[in-house]
Amino acid sequence: MKLSQLLNGVKVENNYNDVEISDVTSDSREVKNGDLFVCIKGASFDGHDVAQEMLDKGASAVVVERDLGIENQIIVDDTRKAYSPICANYFGNPANELKLIGLTGTNGKTTTTFLIKQILENVGKKVGLIGTVQNMVCDEVYPAHYTTPDPHELQSMFRKMVDAHCEYCVMEVSSQALAQGRVEGLHFLLGAFTNLTQDHLDYHKTWENYFLSKRILFENCDIAVTNLDDRSGLEIVKNLPCKVVTYSVDNNSADYTAKNVVFSSKGVQYELVCDEISRVNCPIPGRFSVYNSLCAGVCALALGVDFNDVIGAISNCNGVKGRIEVVPTDTDYTVIIDYAHSPDGLENIISSLKEIAQGRVVTVFGCGGDRDRTKRPKMGAIAAKLSDFCVVTSDNPRSENPSKIIDDILEGMKDTKTPYEVVENRKDAIKWALENAKKNDIILLAGKGHETYQILPTGRIHFDEREVIKEALEEINK
Ligand SMILES: Nc1ncnc2c1ncn2[C@@H]1O[C@H](COP(=O)(O)OP(=O)(O)O)[C@@H](O)[C@H]1O
Ligand SMILES: [Mg+2]
Repeated sequence: MKLSQLLNGVKVENNYNDVEISDVTSDSREVKNGDLFVCIKGASFDGHDVAQEMLDKGASAVVVERDLGIENQIIVDDTRKAYSPICANYFGNPANELKLIGLTGTNGKTTTTFLIKQILENVGKKVGLIGTVQNMVCDEVYPAHYTTPDPHELQSMFRKMVDAHCEYCVMEVSSQALAQGRVEGLHFLLGAFTNLTQDHLDYHKTWENYFLSKRILFENCDIAVTNLDDRSGLEIVKNLPCKVVTYSVDNNSADYTAKNVVFSSKGVQYELVCDEISRVNCPIPGRFSVYNSLCAGVCALALGVDFNDVIGAISNCNGVKGRIEVVPTDTDYTVIIDYAHSPDGLENIISSLKEIAQGRVVTVFGCGGDRDRTKRPKMGAIAAKLSDFCVVTSDNPRSENPSKIIDDILEGMKDTKTPYEVVENRKDAIKWALENAKKNDIILLAGKGHETYQILPTGRIHFDEREVIKEALEEINK
């Protein structure tokens, strides 16, 4: 492909030779002969530092943000933002042939995208999915490395979706992705907002930045579906030209309201009220299942799916791996795996399990290393306040000393009367929790969710909690 074709729609500030390009990358390790290398400045590495090296390695040209005084450079204002349309051009702008649905918010994105996919498929649509757990082209699964992949991977997934005749792509749009221009140039038919609470503040630094980055999605969509019960719900779509559709639990001024909610360990039930009313029976337990299924249902309704089809699809939906996932065991207590790893996520999951628990709620949790440290005592305080017992352990300590992270967590637990146990090794912690479980307890393993690894100071190890539970139970029952 000609360089000029790749740069279609990108404002270039200098003259360049219109050479032939074989592929595009921003990863210096991937550069091959004939490639276009896009220099991006990251937190620990700046692609500009290796621009000449990449040309020596065979790259045909480099995209830069400042004049490096080298041959075959393309100068643009912002390389991160340019990378998205360049990749779109490379893959033939597949997103133009897809109806994009983007989900943003602190919690509930993954669950809600899966639900939307299932509702649309229920009425015969072909749907692709982009998100934290996995990427999908109809039923075909591709591994996901980030919640929202980098533009090259994202556009290549779009290409696969178009080739498979998908009509829709439902995707999680993280605030990082929005802030970094990973979805620059994409237009969404529908954008949906779940909620906004403290998370990723280590990356965005301020609440204002975090809020503004989420808003970018709604500046680029036709229909905005938003949560009236969240204090940022209306703010995030304020003064934007898109059509706004609201949902709420109990607030009649919303376009769609969930009423008379009933919780059980089998799921949630509520009346979906608009100009029609019908009872929804969502088989995923927990209070936020009301919000996630409501949001998904409203998105589908806003896209024109028939009311009764939406109600039927929610009632028949499957759960999502690692999202309030009940692990089958032959025990008189219940084991649940959930991805909650923020103060807010933990608060939501524990309090909603308390609502359905007949025995104790025992929370096994830790906090990630090399991430926002202020979360640790907060998570400790919340877990201790809401649970009947806590097992404090490790959750991806990364380069940090696990016992130091645990100390930070315990700082938030020092004023509580809730009994707890510290077991640094997560596998041992899970075994300890199962060994000490009582009849009717809910043992919540919080933090890992769908992940099947643990990142230790010594590197990444395989760690699948379903396997850990199975092994522990075998040992206990020996
Ligand atoms: N609507 C919600 N409100 C609050 N917490 C939620 C909601 N949905 C899910 N959660 C909690 O957050 C965790 C992450 O849910 P997920 O669907 O993966 O969201 P995301 O993709 O936004 O991280 C879940 O495991 C659950 O504990
Ligand atoms: Mg997610």
